[in-house]
Amino acid sequence: MFQFMTSTRIIFGEGALQSSLSVLNQFGYSVLLVTGQNTSRASPLINYLKQQNMRYQHVAISGEPNITMVEETALSGRKFKPDMVVAIGGGSVIDMGKALAAIIPNQGDVYDYVEVVGRNVPLKTKPIPFIAIPTTASTGSEVTRNAVLRSGQDQVKVSLRSPDMLADVAIVDPTLTYGTDSYTSGRGAMDAFTHLMEAYVCGDPNPLTDMVCEEGLRRLSGAILAGCLQDDFKSRSDLSFAAMLGGMAITNAKLGAAHGLASALGGKLAAPHSVITARLAPYVMQENIRAAQDAGRADVLARYQKVAQILTERTNACRTDSILWVNMMLDKLGLPNLNSFGVCSTSFEDVANDALKSVAIKGNPLPLTKERLTYILQQVCQCQGECTESADIERASLAEVVDESGRRGLSPPIADIK
Ligand SMILES: [Fe+2]
Repeated sequence: MFQFMTSTRIIFGEGALQSSLSVLNQFGYSVLLVTGQNTSRASPLINYLKQQNMRYQHVAISGEPNITMVEETALSGRKFKPDMVVAIGGGSVIDMGKALAAIIPNQGDVYDYVEVVGRNVPLKTKPIPFIAIPTTASTGSEVTRNAVLRSGQDQVKVSLRSPDMLADVAIVDPTLTYGTDSYTSGRGAMDAFTHLMEAYVCGDPNPLTDMVCEEGLRRLSGAILAGCLQDDFKSRSDLSFAAMLGGMAITNAKLGAAHGLASALGGKLAAPHSVITARLAPYVMQENIRAAQDAGRADVLARYQKVAQILTERTNACRTDSILWVNMMLDKLGLPNLNSFGVCSTSFEDVANDALKSVAIKGNPLPLTKERLTYILQQVCQCQGECTESADIERASLAEVVDESGRRGLSPPIADIK
């Protein structure tokens, strides 16, 4: 038995924004508009609101949203009494809009409703209508039921979550991602990858999320380099589709240790969520493969092998090729390592403890102990100085993950991937 939920209506395709703006009229006449600092991609929407004489209040955020920001904006939002919230931007903007749509009609403190650090009580009143328009191919937040918020006082990231928070309309127009710089595109695509991969190998997949993940991984792997590095339009479209599928997958399956550790690290480092998850992914995959080998979990190992086969488009790919593919993409896309954000200065034990409290880590295919999570962090930290853990450990541990074929290290089938 399984269930599958997603946004009520999805409008996908090139030109979707311009051709579907009239959908706003069915929700009323006043709009709380949430954007990032750069509003150039929102101009067709803003022009439409003016042309239709709709009331709107504009909130422009920078960076990832935090709980205080939601509380303060909700106060002014309640006075404005919007009929709907429309968010157009990257994942942070969509999450902010989603949180506002939920909190504006619900009195009390945001901490009443958030997971892990809050009381986690269900929303008393349904959110007001919410329209999500992503301008990046990354989080898939347009089809997820949670908003990720930073808790400043607890130094972790947590979710405000409810099935009622799924967007009423998701307008996914890949043209909105055209021209995005390669760094933003690359880290977003790798976050989408981590969603698809973690949902595929998680402890609670279902046949529909499996289909979604396999197609998402297929589209993403074929498009990631041309889309992110060359702004190829067809590839951009595939990345938008893959990112949306990633959002569907994590809403209906689970995540894993990469996102569990990222929720802990994300509150402590000034690093984008996407970079953190992408940099953690290969080490978590490696640890999970080793744990699955130790536990004799052929089902989990088969899933990693399938991931490798899809990513490399080779039927003879072995499961560790999935790790090599990720490392190759991190390299080609030029994503910074977490040392540049000061990961070495965090307490790995505290991060591991916080990660164990996260919702995401409960989806990991096998339970990982605090010691194993700490080991992952030691590997992510590639500091050659103060930390005793170094690249030597990284190489040694990769060699410990051996496919049944006995292949280790960089295997020939993947070495020539362009
Ligand atoms: Fe993510």
